Amino acid sequence: MRRILSTAIATLLLLLLLLLLLADSASSNPEFNEAPAFRNGKSCSPREVVHIAMTLDYSTPYLRGSIAAVLSVLQHSSCPENTVFHFLSIPLHHPLLRSTVSATFPFLRFHLYPFRPSIVLPLISSSVRQALDQPLNYARIYLPDLLPPSLPRVIYLDSDLILVDDIANLWNIDLHSHVLGAPQYCHANFTHYFTPKFWSTPSLGATFRRRRPCYFNTGVMVIDLLKWRRHGFTRKLEHWMRIQKRYRIYELGSLPPFLLVFAGNVAPVDHRWNQHGLGGDNLQGLCRDLHPGPVSLLHWSGKGKPWLRLDAKRPCTLDNLWSPYDLFKHEILISDS
Ligand SMILES: *[C@@H]1O[C@H](CO)[C@@H](O)[C@H](O)[C@H]1NC(C)=O
Repeated sequence: MRRILSTAIATLLLLLLLLLLLADSASSNPEFNEAPAFRNGKSCSPREVVHIAMTLDYSTPYLRGSIAAVLSVLQHSSCPENTVFHFLSIPLHHPLLRSTVSATFPFLRFHLYPFRPSIVLPLISSSVRQALDQPLNYARIYLPDLLPPSLPRVIYLDSDLILVDDIANLWNIDLHSHVLGAPQYCHANFTHYFTPKFWSTPSLGATFRRRRPCYFNTGVMVIDLLKWRRHGFTRKLEHWMRIQKRYRIYELGSLPPFLLVFAGNVAPVDHRWNQHGLGGDNLQGLCRDLHPGPVSLLHWSGKGKPWLRLDAKRPCTLDNLWSPYDLFKHEILISDS
């Protein structure tokens, strides 16, 4: 009897240990289901390559968003094999990311680039929302430094969005003489984006005097990398981040420096390519509706993220458009379905 009892206890303990190990590996290594293979249509030319840059963050749920975004791009491309992804992430995560991305998208053409937080950490000021202060959020500023010098153009995409249209249509827009292309909003009141200190300091407040500045969201940008490098825009953005450190001229994260450098000098892109704000505002993350007009890209900018609201079983209506692209493998042990 005692023998049976001790065997039972030993078995139980072993089971418990196994459960703990499983739970631990699940929490530290997010796993994803394998995406189907997406193949080119007959009319695709191998020369028409679309280059896409994104960040990958292995230590936060944003990775789940990035994976969904990649799937959405492939699924709606008529030439999915012509897409090449350029991922920026911290070097420490590269081995795990390489295996995760390869396992999820076995046919994906992708490159990983080391983004070192130390280059931007001294320049980051705290903003209204902590998630905006992550160094990777500033990686887009360094794209022209990190990507190959031969690459003339790239589309930058945030991790909290999905495409529902062929990305080639965005890739082929005319930038005219501009460095950047993005949907812009010319009725936005710029007074609100900067502090009274900014407007009351003559040398700063005069920044927009000779242009007609329009708001644009930096989550979707078509970038001419050659022109950007030639004009040293990375250093110009850093310059404004240093001014922010000294004078506190805005409250948001990486957006205001982009407005300061580029607003009024951006190639207009149809609004359908960035239906932003679906995450609500920066403080509460309430449900938001689409803007009027057609939709090619849905962007959950703001505090609310679809994966968080879906997991909390409190999704907004539009979050249900994100979930078909979610490849995240939910841990069976803690699932209640
Ligand atoms: C912008 O907002 C400020 C402050 O609320 C206001 O004084 C100004 O009139 C507004 N400008 C326009 C063009 O609406």
